[in-house]
Amino acid sequence: MSRVVVTGRIPEAALESLRTEHEVDDWQGPGSIDREELLRRVAGADAIVSLLTEKIDAELLDAAGPQLRVVANVAVGYDNIDVAACAERGVIATNTPGVLTDATADIALSLILMSTRRLGEGERIIRSGQEWKWGMFFLLGSSLQGKTLGIVGMGGIGRATARRAKAFGMEIVYQSRSEIDPEIAAELGARRVDLDELLSVSDVVSLHCPYGPATHHLIGAEQLEAMKASAHLVNTARGPVVDEAALASALRAGTIAGAGLDVFEHEPQVHPDLLELENVTLVPHLGSATVETRTAMAVLAADNALAVLGGQEPPSPIG
Ligand code: GLV
Repeated sequence: MSRVVVTGRIPEAALESLRTEHEVDDWQGPGSIDREELLRRVAGADAIVSLLTEKIDAELLDAAGPQLRVVANVAVGYDNIDVAACAERGVIATNTPGVLTDATADIALSLILMSTRRLGEGERIIRSGQEWKWGMFFLLGSSLQGKTLGIVGMGGIGRATARRAKAFGMEIVYQSRSEIDPEIAAELGARRVDLDELLSVSDVVSLHCPYGPATHHLIGAEQLEAMKASAHLVNTARGPVVDEAALASALRAGTIAGAGLDVFEHEPQVHPDLLELENVTLVPHLGSATVETRTAMAVLAADNALAVLGGQEPPSPIG
C-alpha cells in the first residue's frame, strides 16, 4: 500500500479508486492548502495528485522524499509543475489532456460571444437598476458571421474552438508550432499564419497555447497595437500569456474593442484597471468547470497515479 497525497478537494469517484489500493491523505479545505501544511503532508508520499493552484517545485519534491514516484496534475496545463525537477528526481509527471477540451472550448466560445455582443455590459445595466429600453443603437456589438478568428496554439482546445467558431460562420487562421493534420485543416478551412499576420487579420484572437518562458507576455502592448481596433482578445489559456497592464491600457485607449478573460496574470487577483472597464468580460477560471469534466479530469489523474504506483505506463504522461 502506497501513500497518496491529494492537494485539494477532488470528486469522490477519483478518491474511491485511489482508496481501493492505497492510503489517501486528501486536503478537505476549507480553501486551498497552505504551503507549510502541504510541505508537511507530502513527506513520505509515493504519489501526489495535485491541483493547479499548488506549486510542485524542487522544494516540495524534496520535502516529499526520494520514494516519490508520480505527480499527477488534475489539469491539462502544467506550468505549476517543475517538470525538469521531477525528471531529475525520477518522478513521473502527468496531466489530463483531452477530457477538458470541449468544456474549455465552450468557455472560449462563450467569451467570444460575451465580448462581441457586450453581454456583460447588458447584464450590469439591468442589475444596477439603470433605466433601459430597446433602442435601434442600444449596446450594438459585432457579428461573428464572415469574421476571422485567429487561434494561437492549435492543440486540441484550439481545434475544438475553431470547430465551434466555424459553425458560427467564422473563417479560421491559426498560429502553432506545427502544422495540423491536413484533413482537419481542410475540414475547418484553417490557414496557418505567423503571429504578426494573425494579429493583423483577426477580428477575434483566442489564446490556446501552453504557458512557459516562450509564451510569457506573448501578447503585450506591441501585439495589441498590431490588432484591429475592432478586434477582441479572448484568453482561456493561462493569465501570464497576456501582459494584463498593457491589455487594460489598450482596452481603455480603444486600441482593441474588447476582451474576454477566464485566466489572470496574478490569479486570483485581477488587474484593478480591468475592473473599471466595461469592454472586458471577466470570469473566474471556469474553463473546465463542469461536473462531468472535473470528474473525468480527477479520474484520469487518479488513473495516472495508480498506473505509476502499479509499475505501469501512465495514460497521459507529460512530454
Ligand atoms: C485548467 O486550466 C487546466 O489547465 O486544466
